[in-house]
Amino acid sequence: MHLKRTHTCGQLRAADNGSTVTLNGWIHSRRDHGGLIFVDLRDRYGKTQVVFDESVTADAFNTAKHLGMEDVIAVKGKVVGRPEGSINTKIPTGQIDVYVDELEVLNESEPLPFLVTDRDSASEVLRLTYRYLELRTEDLQRYLATRSRVYQLTRDYFYGHDFIEVETPVLMKSTPEGARDYLVPSRLHHGSFYALPQSPQIYKQLLMIAGYDRYFQIVKCFRDEDLRAARQPEFTQIDVEMSFVDEEDVWGNVEGLINKLYKEVLDVELPEHYERLTYGEAMERFGSDKPDLRYGLELQEFAPYALKSDFGAFKSVLEKGGRVKTLVVPGGGKYSRKVIDELTRLVTHYHKGKGLAWMKAGETGLEGGIAKFFSDDLQREIMAGLGVQSGDLLLFVADTEKVALSALGALREEVARRENLADPDEVKPLWVTEFPLLEYDKETDRYMSVHHPFTAPHPDDVPNMESDPGKVRSRGYDLVINGNEVAGGSVRIHDTKLQERVFRMLGISEEEAELKFSFLLKALKYGAPPHGGIAYGFDRLVMLLVGTNQIRDVIAFPKTTSATSLMDGAPSKVSPEQLRELGIRLIDEGE
Ligand code: AMO
Ligand code: AMP
Repeated sequence: MHLKRTHTCGQLRAADNGSTVTLNGWIHSRRDHGGLIFVDLRDRYGKTQVVFDESVTADAFNTAKHLGMEDVIAVKGKVVGRPEGSINTKIPTGQIDVYVDELEVLNESEPLPFLVTDRDSASEVLRLTYRYLELRTEDLQRYLATRSRVYQLTRDYFYGHDFIEVETPVLMKSTPEGARDYLVPSRLHHGSFYALPQSPQIYKQLLMIAGYDRYFQIVKCFRDEDLRAARQPEFTQIDVEMSFVDEEDVWGNVEGLINKLYKEVLDVELPEHYERLTYGEAMERFGSDKPDLRYGLELQEFAPYALKSDFGAFKSVLEKGGRVKTLVVPGGGKYSRKVIDELTRLVTHYHKGKGLAWMKAGETGLEGGIAKFFSDDLQREIMAGLGVQSGDLLLFVADTEKVALSALGALREEVARRENLADPDEVKPLWVTEFPLLEYDKETDRYMSVHHPFTAPHPDDVPNMESDPGKVRSRGYDLVINGNEVAGGSVRIHDTKLQERVFRMLGISEEEAELKFSFLLKALKYGAPPHGGIAYGFDRLVMLLVGTNQIRDVIAFPKTTSATSLMDGAPSKVSPEQLRELGIRLIDEGE
């Protein structure tokens, strides 16, 4: 049996002076000073300086001379208060040392592939390959500790509000959330597959029908989609559903939890209720359905001025029913040609816009770019009307409404990044409401759900839904914090007839609906209460709370952007026997 710790490495204080203690931990650093060796001993609670004195305990001293970084040791010794001048005020244990009487080496470590004291000392590939070592770094330990605290606060909150926690299946029938499913082949039923849940959406609605009127679950979801910065193929949701409610009830519940988390974790007080914007307003003013409200920089209408100008490109776009809007960048007159070219690429390359036009504001009028198409009078009118100051830059996109608004929205974000307009300490939560119910998809020539097919249409738009499907508003909403989509949900359809109508608009035939969702359609007939809910992206929420912009930072064992695990090598090939048992033959290998 080894020397077992009496205290953690973060625990000892001046008041422990004189007591005999045992510590267990990793060697974080070692400094030799002649007859004295100083070791910083580390565990997840902190670091304590332990001292080996040759003149007192020669044995321990001699062993300590050969200790390496990250060796695991046990030390027994006396706590000694440090004299005034050598107190380390940077760490909580900085008032004491432990003078070692007894040393036991519990395990030696091979030289590490990178320094756990410096995360930046290694490439991300190396760190992910040795994730268990990266998890020793202070940053990741803090992130995961916060994550754990958020689980606890979340559960406390829901239990305190009469919610019931229910687990739903992981091996299930496919539910549509818009991404591709991860499939699991069945051994007992060759040719049949389970899908891993993209979300527990259908189950939580079935739980409402079953009468569990306030449900929550902290749950893994799986989506085989193209991964971007804030996405992982498996991620965690706080999934919530409530019966006999409308939007206000769901939002109030969410505001309660978010406010509690920001207060407890960051000591930040958020407003009791959050700002709200409809999807339409958000797009018009910010060119985004998840605008960062920490800065203004709103898009402005430019059509009336464009019509009075001689610029044919803008006029022809307007004639075809398109839009011309502008972003006035205060002080943007300093941007070089090179910067404007970079901004142009953002529009043409990423947003498929036709171009980016610009003008700069001088003392007396507009100049450069497309200024020559605007008369002096018109220039003055523009400057007064749009509040343009000398030294500003005006950026324009003329295109279909969708392209013009989203390209200018991207420019707004890019300018804010360049100019550091977002205060990192500010928190701006926002509800975006009345998302469109459906979106036309050119490739498949049909309408798709913007959220999912169980989202209720806006009651005012229900009577004439079929005549202009693209214009139907939904009762879906997103919670956005500082430009991040943190949660999304909706009030659901609880009426079979309406659900069938929406399936029809989505081009889902009766047979297909029967095949995929017959159990849900059947269940809706047996007393489905009005209900609605939401799901939070748990990882994204923790990201915001700890202040990182990498979703991988807050997940213990994350995947790369190509959905692999560098540490264990998943996904991997399996044996021919395993495949045979599952009744699977690989196409490539022609087995
Ligand atoms: P939705 O698809 O909007 O809604 O997902 C809810 C929230 O989950 C987070 N999220 C992700 N986080 C990390 N990686 C991903 N790949 C990923 N995909 C989504 C986002 C998002 O806001 N069943 C519905 C909810 C409902 O209607 O109640 C759903 O899943 O933060
Ligand atoms: P042109 O007269 O076509 O050479 O265009 C003059 C400037 O306006 C160039 O910088 C183009 O990139 C830009 N431009 C052309 N069409 C558009 C458009 N639809 N929206 C925004 N800028 C455009």
